[in-house]
Amino acid sequence: MIEILAISGSLRAASTNSALVSALARNAPPSCRVTVHDRLGRLPIFNPDDEGERTPQEASALIDAVTQADGVIISCPEYAHGVPGGLKNALDWLVSRDAAVAKPAMLVHASPRSLFARAALAEIMRTMSFALCEDVLEIALLGKKPPEVEGILAEPENQLVMRDAVSAFADFIRAR
Ligand SMILES: Cc1cc2nc3c(=O)[nH]c(=O)nc-3n(C[C@H](O)[C@H](O)[C@H](O)COP(=O)(O)O)c2cc1C
Repeated sequence: MIEILAISGSLRAASTNSALVSALARNAPPSCRVTVHDRLGRLPIFNPDDEGERTPQEASALIDAVTQADGVIISCPEYAHGVPGGLKNALDWLVSRDAAVAKPAMLVHASPRSLFARAALAEIMRTMSFALCEDVLEIALLGKKPPEVEGILAEPENQLVMRDAVSAFADFIRAR
C-alpha cells in the first residue's frame, strides 16, 4: 500500500483546494491510501528558535506525517501572486530536517490561473529537496460554490482523471 499525505493550502471552509484533495482521497486507486492533513491552521508561526526540543506538538505531528508518508500531494491557491502564508509556514517547519529530503511530491491545481503560486511553490519545494513529480493534475474549480464543486468532482470523467493522477504519482514513488 502506497501511503500519500494530501495537503490543501487553503483554510477556507468552502475551499475548492480542500475539496480537491478530499476527492483525491475518495478516488485513489486500491493500491494507494490518500490521507488528508487538514491542520495547517493550528500550526504556530515558524520560528527557528522553536526547533529541536522546543518543537511544538502540532509541528511535530506534521513532520511525522510527512516523514511516514511515501509521498505528498499539495493543492494550493494563489494569494497576491504568491503561496498563502499558512502553507509556506507549514513548509518552513519542514526545512531544517530530513522529512522533505527526496520525498516524492505532486502538485494539483483547483485554479487554472494560479501560475505565480505554482511556480513559487515548485521552486520552494525543489529548494527543500522534495522530489517533485513532473505530472500535475488540474481540475478547474475556481469561483465555484460547494454544491457545484462536488458535482464537478463527482463526474465520472473527473473521477477517472483523479484516479489516473494518483496512480501515476504512485508509479513515480515506486520508481524512486
Ligand atoms: C487574499 C486573496 C488574494 C488572492 N490573490 C490571487 C492572485 O494573486 N491570483 C489569483 O489567481 N487568485 C487570487 N485569489 C483568488 C484565490 O486564489 C482563489 O479564489 C482560489 O480558488 C481560492 O482557493 P480556495 O477555494 O481553496 O480557498 C486571491 C484570493 C484571496 C482571498
